[in-house]
Amino acid sequence: MSKTLKVGVIGVGGIARTHYPGWKESPHAELVAFADINSEILQRMGEREGITRLYEDPAQLIADSDIDIIDVCTPNRYHAPLTIAALEAGKHVICEKPLAPTPDEIRQMITARDKSGKLLMTAQHFRFTGSAKALKAEIDRGVLGDVYHARSWMLRRSGAPTSPGFVTKQHAGGGPCIDIGVHILDLTLWMMGNPKPVAISGITQDRLRRQPGWFSNWGGPIPDFWDVEEFAAGFVRFENGATLVIEVSWLLHHKTTGEDMQMWLYGEKGGSHWPSNELLWTNTETRQHLNTQLVNQEGGEAHAKECIAFAEAVATGASSPVPAEHSLDVITILDGLYRSAEAGKEVSLV
Ligand SMILES: NC(=O)c1ccc[n+]([C@@H]2O[C@H](COP(=O)([O-])OP(=O)(O)OC[C@H]3O[C@@H](n4cnc5c(N)ncnc54)[C@H](O)[C@@H]3O)[C@@H](O)[C@H]2O)c1
Repeated sequence: MSKTLKVGVIGVGGIARTHYPGWKESPHAELVAFADINSEILQRMGEREGITRLYEDPAQLIADSDIDIIDVCTPNRYHAPLTIAALEAGKHVICEKPLAPTPDEIRQMITARDKSGKLLMTAQHFRFTGSAKALKAEIDRGVLGDVYHARSWMLRRSGAPTSPGFVTKQHAGGGPCIDIGVHILDLTLWMMGNPKPVAISGITQDRLRRQPGWFSNWGGPIPDFWDVEEFAAGFVRFENGATLVIEVSWLLHHKTTGEDMQMWLYGEKGGSHWPSNELLWTNTETRQHLNTQLVNQEGGEAHAKECIAFAEAVATGASSPVPAEHSLDVITILDGLYRSAEAGKEVSLV
């Protein structure tokens, strides 16, 4: 099969590198161009990947008529303007998470997508892990019944990325909510069948980073320019009566090395835990509790798999593997969490 779709990547820093194996492995896509405002990174990554079409101005890559798919991997604040420009230029777009830090930006991206008739996907790679796909398949078969409550968290003990692209409102749009909250929230909503969120009560905390000597295992000392939250928690109500408790942190006295990411789902027929993929039931006739272990048979690297899935969808005319509407709900919840924290009370999301 010939590789008919030409891919250009904007922002060739850290995460973009995890996408290249997917573009190379896809039977439909071919990596042809890079853009980055940092010329040193641009040259280095071009040499490393054998890409010679290099643009210091992303507008030039967007204007390149040879390109079919644009892969946006810049800091969060630049996702919306670059994605909208790319869609207006007739490109399909896969964009790193968060799709954008605010609901308004995502609505504008959806409008641009609908005008262009092109595909737009958020790079929520956890959906492409074998364990998540296996659990989702079981839930879709109805093994949990109606899921009426979820508990999800993504907690790090001292694991904050410390560059301006992550810890300033100007470039990131928010802290761990916007960085890692989107991962666990997207996954949980997807498992729950994407019910409509209607209200949230949330708090943010900023207690540890101001103490002398605090540090990140990921980036050394806490920088002075950090102006986002370090911890957040929320209680979400959905239109169908379901509820969700979510907690996220970059700095917390929590027992974990690295990252503790978990999701508990509670349904009328059964419960489940991810990532262990245990399913939990009760036999009321025998008064026994039963635990079943799902054994995941699917391997592969999830960032690569999301790119392969996007190219497949574009090539076959299928719908977006992660629709922007799902990301709009995720960011509506997190935007509501910030508003609720500010107001000190539950806020409406509709
Ligand atoms: N899915 C994941 O697991 C995951 C992990 C890390 C980061 N991310 C996301 O990826 C995005 C980038 O994060 P990163 O860690 O790669 O950051 P990074 O700082 O390592 O790389 C970003 C690159 O974008 C370039 N850039 C900045 N503004 C630009 C612009 N306007 N036009 C073109 N290039 C521009 C920078 O020069 C840099 O090379 C963020 O949105 C982040 O949330 C996702």
